[in-house]
Amino acid sequence: RQLVLPKHPSLPPEVFHFLPFIGSAPGYGNDPIAFLDSCRKKYGDVFTFVLLGRKMTVALGSAGNNFVLGGKVANLSAEDAYTHLTTPVFGKDVVYDCPNEKLMEQKKFMKVGLSTDNMRAYVEMIENEVSEFLRKDPSFRIFQMNDVNEWGQFDALKATSEMTILTASRTLQGKEVRGNLDATFAQLFTDLDGGFTPLNFMFPNLPLESYRKRDRAQTKMAEFYINIIKARKEGTSTNDEPDMISALMGQTYRNGTPLPDHEIAHIMIALLMAGQHTSSATAAWALLHLADNPEIAEELYQEQVKHFSNPDGTLRLATYEELKSLPLLDSVIRETLRMHPPIHSIMRYVRADLVVPGTLSAPSKDSQYVVPKGHYVLASPAVSQADKSLWLRAEEWMPSRWTDPEGQAQQAFKQYADENGEKVDYGFGAVSKGTESPYQPFGAGRHRCIGEQFAYLQLGTLISTVVRSIEMRIPGGVPPPNYHTMITLPKAPRNITYRRRKFE
Ligand code: HEM
Repeated sequence: RQLVLPKHPSLPPEVFHFLPFIGSAPGYGNDPIAFLDSCRKKYGDVFTFVLLGRKMTVALGSAGNNFVLGGKVANLSAEDAYTHLTTPVFGKDVVYDCPNEKLMEQKKFMKVGLSTDNMRAYVEMIENEVSEFLRKDPSFRIFQMNDVNEWGQFDALKATSEMTILTASRTLQGKEVRGNLDATFAQLFTDLDGGFTPLNFMFPNLPLESYRKRDRAQTKMAEFYINIIKARKEGTSTNDEPDMISALMGQTYRNGTPLPDHEIAHIMIALLMAGQHTSSATAAWALLHLADNPEIAEELYQEQVKHFSNPDGTLRLATYEELKSLPLLDSVIRETLRMHPPIHSIMRYVRADLVVPGTLSAPSKDSQYVVPKGHYVLASPAVSQADKSLWLRAEEWMPSRWTDPEGQAQQAFKQYADENGEKVDYGFGAVSKGTESPYQPFGAGRHRCIGEQFAYLQLGTLISTVVRSIEMRIPGGVPPPNYHTMITLPKAPRNITYRRRKFE
């Protein structure tokens, strides 16, 4: 239906700009949400802006999300939009450096490493890593002191980044990566990460040292994983705990070709990049909001006490199933992802002229917008997740909106879910998975995130372990977002003041 051109097609309105090639780059780059919101007021839900020579057609709201994320793969391509950024970092033949059908098979392989049995095993490993970190990291030196009333300070993002890489490497990445975190691996990761920035996205090939470092790090990191695979095949390295490398080894494509070692290595790099900043940013935002709302942090602590108290007053570990059934913990994560989805813009390259459905936006009764081949389309779930017409007191971090049965704060969202027969309940991302949902921190459609369950597990364990250990405050309030990185991060300074809950 989308390929039949309307009788009176017209291009979406174009956002006014002074500089021909640069276009709206400064406005979009500094604060994409404010920029998109202000354009929406002037031009409606569908409009085009110029971003360093590229034509980006934005489609906002639930219908806009559906248009971009629910579109046909023949018309809308993620690989054409992202490969210049991702292939130099992940490596060849995986994710966006292959046809979409191949990515779909690779995503199935990845899901094997994220099975429920694996998740059950990961809980304790994550809990151990976080507790160890809190005991050993210099910013938590208060733990070594004897005065429970003394307050210390830590940088929220620095701490959550460390905890995220420790927990991801201990579980998904495997013991060899975990064992090398302090040595070779950390530097390779830093260099590779330095090549995964908005600059790399906008300018794939610049003669800069950071680009050369990225390329060297990619080669070395791929070799590192390939050596792990070889050693495991030869039996010189054994792994007694489940991880993603084991899950991927031995997978076979439908045509009978086994998943080659270099593809396993590149998938491992892709997973590292996909999971690290998304999870660490979300954890940092959650801790910052909890520090700003000590009464909610206290309720969260009491939720732990209620479910996990031992007779001697200590708290026992949660199982995967138990962790999944804690309403407040779940709402804290869910609400943090509503206000701070790490990925603010989702893009696709337009491979064939696309008619914008009249229900989304149309210039007049007998005319429809057409997005021409060669444009990019952009959806921003971050905009629909902050939409004041959908969410009561949208600008407030309010975990209770997800559990309040009267649903005052989430009326509009609930109405959407009811109309679409979707469940709004707990259970690690059980909320609405449709491409038309206004709540999509993990995307939707064929490119939807496969890491959601793992992220909830990692975040849930991290947040509850921290809340069990310390009380937090943030006298200056929650910092604003920084949009100059690929993932929306809290701006520095983002220090949390804390004190230890009790002696151990
Ligand atoms: C895709 C968000 C954690 C692996 C996506 C997409 C979003 C997203 C929005 C869709 C991108 C698009 O449509 O262009 C998040 C958030 C996370 C998170 C908010 C944590 C809070 C993870 C983790 C992993 C992961 C932990 C791996 C273990 C992936 C993969 C894709 C994906 C493989 C598929 C890409 C595709 O099909 O094109 N994620 N992610 N993510 N994510 Fe995540």
